[in-house]
Amino acid sequence: MEIDAFKLKKLRNYLNDEIGIYVEDNKLRNIYERKIIKLLERFDYNDFNKFFKDLILKKNSILKQEFINVFTVNETYFFREKHQFDTLIKYVLPTLDKIRPRNEVISILCAPVSTGEELYSIAILLIEEGNLIKKRDFLLLGIDIDSNVIKKAKEGIYSARSVHKLPPELIKKYFVEEKGNYRIKDFLKKVVNFKVINILDKYAMKKLGVFDVIFSRNMLIYFDEKSKRETLAIFYSILKDEGYLFLGHAERIPSDVKLFESLKIGESFVYKKNSNSK
Ligand SMILES: C[S@@+](CC[C@H](N)C(=O)[O-])C[C@H]1O[C@@H](n2cnc3c(N)ncnc32)[C@H](O)[C@@H]1O
Repeated sequence: MEIDAFKLKKLRNYLNDEIGIYVEDNKLRNIYERKIIKLLERFDYNDFNKFFKDLILKKNSILKQEFINVFTVNETYFFREKHQFDTLIKYVLPTLDKIRPRNEVISILCAPVSTGEELYSIAILLIEEGNLIKKRDFLLLGIDIDSNVIKKAKEGIYSARSVHKLPPELIKKYFVEEKGNYRIKDFLKKVVNFKVINILDKYAMKKLGVFDVIFSRNMLIYFDEKSKRETLAIFYSILKDEGYLFLGHAERIPSDVKLFESLKIGESFVYKKNSNSK
């Protein structure tokens, strides 16, 4: 089977409208054509038009989810860009702790969380820091569009590569070694939550509530400009006043978007909600 360029572009545009990811022409042919053909075969389609019609009419929600899972890039690991977690723990959370009412929960959203390492890294560092969690409750939520990665995040079983940046004493404290893999201990699993959500679905996002901190690293680089701006507006709407946004090291907010103020804290760039904007 072969899929012609026109059809591949139709799929690319549909994906882009639905979830923001934009795939360039050369990657469509070189990387994704083969994967889409496999998907068609798995779902017993030998007619592309029938497949596309079922996809866009959302006749089969499993088909749509599996189609999306084909295009996501899920690379992540514990303590990736550790300096950003240090900025969170040493500067951002103590600052929020001073200004938020004593009985208020501080909420942190990882959007996207992929297989969970980022959110578990935050949980580990919060426990290690000790003082903040003695004073108040925290809510830690991770979301991702890819159902496979959310399943893995909930299972909490990681390869040696995934934990390679963690010091051995933290591995010992928070993981059980099992057949060359590392399983998150139950007490740590209990403090995090994971959900499958499309970040561009503003109704689903608003239903999550409001957050003090949003980590959104290494997703916007795959988005087109329009989806990136839409996502930033959604983040703005679900961040509390004085809330903070962390992006990946290769990601920046366009200079004409005035929703956030950029701060440099140590090695990290952090964005603070500009409460008078919009
Ligand atoms: C490279 S991973 C980043 C993981 C982690 N934040 C990190 O930096 O290590 C990018 C993730 O973005 C997710 N993603 C892409 N588009 C999305 C969307 N519209 N809504 C939610 N997640 C999305 C993908 O499924 C993928 O798991």
